[in-house]
Amino acid sequence: MKIEENYSLEKHNTFHLPVKTRWFMEYSSEEELCNILRDEYFQESHSLHIGGGSNLLFITDFNGIILHSAIRGISVCEETEESMVIRAGAAELWDNVVCYAVENGWGGIENLSYIPGETGGAAIQNIGAYGVEIKDCIEKIETYNQLTREKQIFSREACEYGYRYSYFKNEHHDPHIVTYVYLRLTKKPRFALDYGHLATRLQDYPEITLSTVRDAVIRIRKEKLPKPEVLGNAGSFFTNPVISREQFEKIRNSYPQIPSYPAGDARVKVPAGWLIEQCGFKGKTHGPVGIYEKQALVIVNLGNATGDEIALVAKSIRMAVSEQFGIDLVSEVKYVG
Ligand code: EPU
Repeated sequence: MKIEENYSLEKHNTFHLPVKTRWFMEYSSEEELCNILRDEYFQESHSLHIGGGSNLLFITDFNGIILHSAIRGISVCEETEESMVIRAGAAELWDNVVCYAVENGWGGIENLSYIPGETGGAAIQNIGAYGVEIKDCIEKIETYNQLTREKQIFSREACEYGYRYSYFKNEHHDPHIVTYVYLRLTKKPRFALDYGHLATRLQDYPEITLSTVRDAVIRIRKEKLPKPEVLGNAGSFFTNPVISREQFEKIRNSYPQIPSYPAGDARVKVPAGWLIEQCGFKGKTHGPVGIYEKQALVIVNLGNATGDEIALVAKSIRMAVSEQFGIDLVSEVKYVG
């Protein structure tokens, strides 16, 4: 177990904000986690469990306890004729899991290559990219319920997955700490190549395999998205809004080129990046905060930005999009403080 006081979170948030936490507690086993949770001081303190910090915006220092898992490792749990179930510790880097699956020839998550963050956070957030969401491969999730102090298993259905949503994101539910994620992967790949230019990009390769799909996705991501290690960011700052077909048609009358994707039940998903670009933000800088020049949905820390400064830019984007399109953007990034 690692316990630190007045600890810098700079390496624990991909915006690289040099905020501090009063306490940082990292556990390496479920037993250590139980010990922390049982402690009276912990019970009286304000606490927050974080993963890789790839989806967090710290507005202020954290006057409480930041909990972090160090439960890593990937193992095989089950094998059938057609599939494999693997188990990954919540703190395992997500891209290590994808790499492990691809190297073993097991399919399902190759489109989710090169997404920053840890596996527990990936499952809570229902990460998605290039037409695939992690929920498509989730077999079950193992958690530790902070209220009942019991281990719990959630089937995929019980996780109530939706677009960038799961049961664990609802603050009215019992607080669960995800300890292990189980993924069912296919032995025979079923490629999902319909999204954007993934199929086009794959024409550069002699054949389509799990490895070439992974390689193509990594290349597209490297071209389009800033590397958090180089330029602090948290990927898409907002989710893509889902609006009624009626509202969409109204907007399309004035903007015939608006891109869209069907979202079921007479609803339409619109790329937030496009809306933000239309409002003139793409590539602009506001002091130490920038809107990435190749993807307007990504807000970047150009140097010494504070959480407040980033939040201010996000607010002006939200206001401009609301004024111009009547659409309220929702943050994918979680504000802390
Ligand atoms: N677009 C613009 N201008 C921009 C950005 C996008 O016009 O500056 C339009 C283009 O029409 C483009 C469309 O938006 O074709 C979609 O853009 P992109 O393929 O880059 O995807 P996205 O909808 O902006 C989503 C996810 C990403 C994921 C990509 C690829 C959300 C909030 N974001 O972005 O996820 O990598 O699709 O599948 O759903 C993340 O969540 O952090 C993330 C990076």
